[in-house]
This record gives sequence, structure tokens and C-alpha cells, in this order.
Amino acid sequence: MRITDTADLWWKNAVLYCLDVETFMDWDDDGVGDFTGLAQRLDHLVDLGVTCLWLMPFYPTAERDDGYDITDFYGVDPRLGNHGDVVEVIRTAHDRGLRVIADLVVNHTSDQHPWFKESRKSKDNPYRDWYVWRSDTPPDTSDQVVFPDQEDSIWELDEKTGEYYLHQFYKSQPDLNVTNPVVRDEIAKIVGFWTQLGLDGFRMDAVPFLLDTSGNGDGEAGRLPDPHAYLRDIRAFLDRRTNGGILLGEVNLPFEEQLTFYGGTDGDELTMQFDFIGMQATYLSLARGDAGPLVTALQGRPTTSPDSQWATFVRNHDELTLDKLTEDERQEVFAAFGPEPEMQIYDRGLIRRLPPMLDGDPRRIRMVYSLLFSLPGTPTLFYGEEIGMGEELSVGSRLAVRTPMQWTSGTNGGFSRAKAAKLPGPVVTGGYAPEFVNVADQRKDPDSLLSFFRRLISRRRECPELGWGDFQVLEQPHSAVLAHLCSWDDGALVAVHNLGAEPVTVPLQLADCGPEHLLADLLVDGTTAMDADGCAELTLEGYGHRWLRVVAPGTRRIR
Ligand code: NOJ
Repeated sequence: MRITDTADLWWKNAVLYCLDVETFMDWDDDGVGDFTGLAQRLDHLVDLGVTCLWLMPFYPTAERDDGYDITDFYGVDPRLGNHGDVVEVIRTAHDRGLRVIADLVVNHTSDQHPWFKESRKSKDNPYRDWYVWRSDTPPDTSDQVVFPDQEDSIWELDEKTGEYYLHQFYKSQPDLNVTNPVVRDEIAKIVGFWTQLGLDGFRMDAVPFLLDTSGNGDGEAGRLPDPHAYLRDIRAFLDRRTNGGILLGEVNLPFEEQLTFYGGTDGDELTMQFDFIGMQATYLSLARGDAGPLVTALQGRPTTSPDSQWATFVRNHDELTLDKLTEDERQEVFAAFGPEPEMQIYDRGLIRRLPPMLDGDPRRIRMVYSLLFSLPGTPTLFYGEEIGMGEELSVGSRLAVRTPMQWTSGTNGGFSRAKAAKLPGPVVTGGYAPEFVNVADQRKDPDSLLSFFRRLISRRRECPELGWGDFQVLEQPHSAVLAHLCSWDDGALVAVHNLGAEPVTVPLQLADCGPEHLLADLLVDGTTAMDADGCAELTLEGYGHRWLRVVAPGTRRIR
């Protein structure tokens, strides 16, 4: 392996940043964020150090699922700008060394999409087979719905033609029929269109649902014989059209099933997948002050192709799902981080952001992000995490964490000069309001969370051993502590995180190390000596964190 390989497989050492143009920055004063506003704020993201933007859906939409219900896959929501504005953002981002990916939401369309309007007109409409229809009464599917607060079946009767259409999500989101080759061609065209405009890949929505054609009413004949062959096709098409374009898939399944979505160890399907299992285990570990569940998750990751990568995260735009924990474990996390019913949703998740869940404790918040950035994988941030934004619970849904970005302490947090009523949602109130949490103030403060993030991201990017290296949990006696080693080529990094409130002294032993080696702190100043057996003792405060480079004699790496 050579350092130059990190440029080819850029996603393995990237730092992703997810934002919704609608809530990021409003430049034309209509109350809604826009591409022109995003262009103005790209330098904030460059300064932060992230390397790839993930844009949430910015296409024309019926606005029933915050943009995930698309009415034109080739268009731009006119409130946000036009194609020219999108291209300007992509071009300016590229100039700053930032890549740009966007949501590819092709499991379903909006029911307002012209294709569906045609499809429901008659049974012999040319678009009928673009969606999944059945004529017989569907069985009870109430246990399969994704949004149980609003749906009780994944089939909806369409009065006009007397048949039912499939919708794995809301009934306003009919599923596309990917067994129809014409639909598959159209999806490829969408991929081709946006990559031609400069996108560097896609965050692929709801991938298992897209590939699951078992619900198609026609029995075996109506199914894709090998759904993964279809995913391979999409990847191969993207590879042909781009230079290193990625597919980052949303696949919230057990690890072994996720492996199949990578294309096994061939790695020819999804380039990356979110690590939902690791994320949920992290919260269980935090709730217990015990690193055990996280260690189990990390060690349970299957072996993938060296080109594949996990996307790690502690928060995203959806509910903080805890669906892969047992009922008892989920209740433990609820009790620790979201005990009130209004903090919970769908009996499986929380609608809170991280800082309020940790009672605003800066030691804990920094420890969690230090942990996230030290784990193997590509860390993924949701906008506002870099300044410690909170949620607005009064919104009462997943949108509680999708409030306007807080740029200044001024009106609307500097997001927009329009009247508050015109904004896409309320600005956060209370202790996490813009008055207390905003970019402008934190930029000037060397001790702010934003400054911490800058340092953390810069260190993360200098340590390809984290994204590429071998991962090993180091033996030590404290259950509250995770000590791990990532090593790659001539680089080795030890990270130690104390999930407990009590200070600890952590004895560590590193193979093939001796007194000629040194452990050099990367996030603060300091060095720790090693003895003849490769042993060292590290002290950590309650909720403390340390990153230490193993400095070998004669190394030319700078620290
Ligand atoms: C997953 C997205 O993350 C979520 O926000 C959306 O509601 C569903 N897919 C449906 O598109």
C-alpha cells in the first residue's frame, strides 16, 4: 500500500457532511435555503475540513416526506434554485477539494409524479407496469410498515382501477417496479444525468427495499431473478460514467446481510454502507458506561473487499433508530437519553440530537466525536453537529433535528432574513437556540466545539491508518474504556476512550514496541514513554479521550 492509493479510493479516508439545501442557508430572503446560500457557505465546510458533501434530496417534491417524495428526478426544486445553481455549487466545491454526492431515491416516487399519475389512470396505461400493482386483497402487512404512526399496510387500494399499489413507506410514495427493464433503464439515465452534471456519487436510499421484489403480485415470474445482479449493474454503470464515483447505501440490516450488499468480498455492489449496528451499539455502550457492546459490534463486522468502506455516524436526519437492539437494551437507551414519550418515535427511535442527550456535557460530547473519528470507517456528520446544535422537540417528528442551520446569534440564527413563518421549520429554542449555539461565535473561540472539530478532522485526515488500517482492541482492565490500535504501513495509532465518569489509569502493552518507541498525543501536547516490554500507562479523566501515535525510531512522519 502506498499513501498515493488514498487518492484513488478517496472514500476510505473521507469525512462526509450531510446537509439539506432547504435548511442550510437562505440567500434570496424567501425563507427557504438555496443553492446560492450553500455556495456562500462552502468555505465554512472547507474550513471545518470535511471532504465530501452529501446533499439530501433537492428535486421537485410533493413535500410529504421532506423531499424523499420526488416528482421529477431530473429537476431541481425551484425554491432551492435551478440546474445552473447546482452546477455552480458542484464546481465551486470541486475547486475547494470537496466532492459532492446526493440522495438517489429510486425505490419510490411521489404519488404526484407524472409517471404514477399515468400509471393509475387505467390497467392498460403504458406506465401501469412502472409501479407494483395487485388485484387480490393483500394480506395483513401491518408488521412491515416503516412508519407505523401513519400507515397500517404496505398496499393501498386505488379506487379508480380497483387494484392495490405497493408502498413500503408512506402511501404517498408508490414503489417503482424495478423488474420492468424500462424502469431500470430510466434509473440508469438518472444516475447518468447527475454524474454528467458533476456529482461524485450517491447516497442510495432504502436499498433493501429497492431490491426486494418478492412483494410483486405475479409470483416468481414477476421477481428479479438475481436482485444483486441489478445492484452490480448500477455500480458498473456508475464506474463507467465516473472517475471514482461512489454508492453509499442505506442498508439497515444485520452485518452478514450487509455483506451481500457490498457484493461480498468482491466489493462490486455498494461502495459504502452506513454502520447502523455500530451506531446503535455505541448508544448502548454510552448508556451503560461500558465499552462492551461497541466492541462486540466492531468485532462482528464482516470482512469486506479492501475497497469497500463503512460510513460511521452517531446521528443522521432520521430518527436515531434503535431497532437492532433487544427490547430491554432499547429501553435502557430510552431511559438514558430519551425518557419522555415526546422524545421517542415509532417505538424504536429518538428524535433528539446528541448534545441534549448527553446533558450538554462538553467532555462527553467531545469524547463521543473523538471515538467516532477514531473508529475504522469514514465518519459522517449531519449539519450542525460541528457546533453542537440541539433538536426542537415541539416539531414532534423526525423533523425535530432538521431545523435551520445556526450561523449567528441574530434573527433566525442568521439562516434567513425572512419572517419566521416563512422558514421550512422553527429555529431551535431554549438552551440550544442560536443565541447560545452558532457558527460565528464558535469560529472566534479556540475552545469551542467547532474548533475541536477542526482539529479532530485535520488529525483524522492525516491518519490514513484509521480508514485503511488493521483494527485491534487492546486488552486493558476497565470495562468503561475502549482502547484500540489501528495500524497501516508505517503508521500506528492508539486511541483510548473512557465512557465512564471516573478517571482511570489504563495500562497498555503493544506488540513489537520497546523503550525506543514513544506514544505521542495527537489532540493535545504530550508524550508517554514505553518500557522494555512495550508497556505504557495512560491516564484519562472521566469521559476522557486520547489519540496517540506510536512513534518509531527514525520515523519521518511529523506530528
Ligand atoms: C430513508 C430516508 O432516510 C428517510 O428519511 C425517508 O423517509 C425514507 N427513506 C423514504 O424515502
